[in-house]
Amino acid sequence: MVHVEVDTAAIRGNLERLRAWLPRRVALMLVVKEDAYGHGLVPVARAVRDLVDWFGVAWVSEARALRRAGIAAPVFLMIPPVGTELVQAVREGFHLPLGDLGMVEEIEAAARRAGKQALVHIEVDTGMGRFGLLPEEAELAWQKLDRRRVEVVGLYSHLSSASGHTLEDLHFTRAQVWWFRKFLEEWEHRGIEVPWRHLANSAAVLAFDEATAPPLNMVRIGTAAYGYPEGPGQPPVELVPAARVWTHVAAVRNLPRSWPVGYARQYVTPAPQRVAILAAGYGDGLRPELRRVFIREQEAPLLGKLGMDTVAADVSHVERVQRGDRAVLFGPGISYPDWICPVLVPVLLSSPRRWHHEAPT
Ligand SMILES: Cc1ncc(COP(=O)(O)O)c(C=O)c1O
Repeated sequence: MVHVEVDTAAIRGNLERLRAWLPRRVALMLVVKEDAYGHGLVPVARAVRDLVDWFGVAWVSEARALRRAGIAAPVFLMIPPVGTELVQAVREGFHLPLGDLGMVEEIEAAARRAGKQALVHIEVDTGMGRFGLLPEEAELAWQKLDRRRVEVVGLYSHLSSASGHTLEDLHFTRAQVWWFRKFLEEWEHRGIEVPWRHLANSAAVLAFDEATAPPLNMVRIGTAAYGYPEGPGQPPVELVPAARVWTHVAAVRNLPRSWPVGYARQYVTPAPQRVAILAAGYGDGLRPELRRVFIREQEAPLLGKLGMDTVAADVSHVERVQRGDRAVLFGPGISYPDWICPVLVPVLLSSPRRWHHEAPT
């Protein structure tokens, strides 16, 4: 069993510092998809609503949950809905991505059925290769779209490598930014005016000034708001992790030399070793990339294969370890490597959570 405490005051603090860092003319979309990266969609959105201009979600159900919670800010759906959900999304006034040329007619038909103009952001693929229209396709979409049915509210693109550390990542990100800016410039010169132009995710906000310079006027921030720095170099603003995640020590074993630990004998003690068996495994969302925990404030490397509800940790060097001790997986003061999202989010989504609206003492 894994326990999660989410400190929404930490998210507020991060957002306040990010807002202060961003130029004033830039609107902030908080990405709260997948239950706010596991931090809790409604508790997070309620706690930060005054600091956020837009919310970004994956699913129509998440957009509706925001409305039910009384959040009136515009909501952008990052994954295009299909079928009747598309019609409902138009009817309910959620902003839609247009990142597949085939969607042009679908959106027009949905708008007709909904009896309402669809609000659309055209995504330009500058090197993400997921959703998005190639520039010539974007041109085609612009020509084809029936303006009585569809209002183009935004033009955007998504960066694939802004959090990377290699020179290649840096060059690729610069090229994506340059390309999108050039695309916007060309459309602007032709007199095409689209109110919202957005590109930067957290890493780009923190490390690439050109990704927030005019004509760009919105950013889409996820990880940084939750307190996890991503990208090359030290972040220019302090980010405080919002989640504390821990399990407990269920057994303390003193094992002899050459003793196997866990399934498939993937680890064998090289010498007599004290091993703590922790009460969490892949059934709690833990992933094999997680390689250490903290017990009594000391780092304890994980050993052997991850089980469904157990994993072993080396505590030979940790004094007075006992059953019931906390084994901290994540929390303030623990350094976060780049895989924080794929490793942390599944744990948060699988575990019971509690929310603190003031920083716990
Ligand atoms: C389209 C889009 N924009 C922005 C983000 C936010 O990215 P980050 O969490 O790195 O800030 C995401 C998240 O995956 C996304 O899919």
